Amino acid sequence: MDKKLSKILIDKDTIDNEVSRLAGEINRDYAGREILLVGLLKGCFVFMSDLMRKITVPCSIDFMIVSSYGSGTQSSGKVNIIRDLSEDIKDKDVIIVEDIVDSGITLDCVMDILRSREPRSLKLCSFLTKPSRRKRDIVIDYCGIEIEDEFVVGYGLDYAEKFRELPYVGVLSD
Ligand code: IMP
Ligand code: MG
Repeated sequence: MDKKLSKILIDKDTIDNEVSRLAGEINRDYAGREILLVGLLKGCFVFMSDLMRKITVPCSIDFMIVSSYGSGTQSSGKVNIIRDLSEDIKDKDVIIVEDIVDSGITLDCVMDILRSREPRSLKLCSFLTKPSRRKRDIVIDYCGIEIEDEFVVGYGLDYAEKFRELPYVGVLSD
């Protein structure tokens, strides 16, 4: 375990099982269709690459980079699109792929933006969820693991851009 962590919360095998379970649900629900996975960078990239390799229906990918204007401030509730999608999503079956839903503010805004572009369907898949921190009512159609209100890193999640490479999810020591 990395010295800067206080504990491993989710080990590699648990992650692997969870990703298989989520991909299985997607494969079942989208049988006979094609999907577009929309990843929210940067946190999504490790989870999304594992998920995609377990998806058996035809699937393409695109990415967005958004920044939220700070969840504690007055301007919260707005996101800034730093990098938009490269394709039109009209009439497509879209699944947003996220690392973690925390306050839900980012997702709430992103889903509104994407819905206005008239996809055929729009669903959300998140690897982690922290429901105790929620400020927006978000339905996670494909929901991975629920965690307590702790700051976690690894498996794509960072603290100041560090720890994304860890193959497990851990809690930082203070
Ligand atoms: P929110 O749901 O709009 O509050 O923001 C979610 C984003 O905040 C996620 O996509 C992560 O990038 C980041 N985030 C929230 N909680 C954590 C955490 O525990 N570790 C690392 N990043 C986090
Ligand atoms: Mg993120």
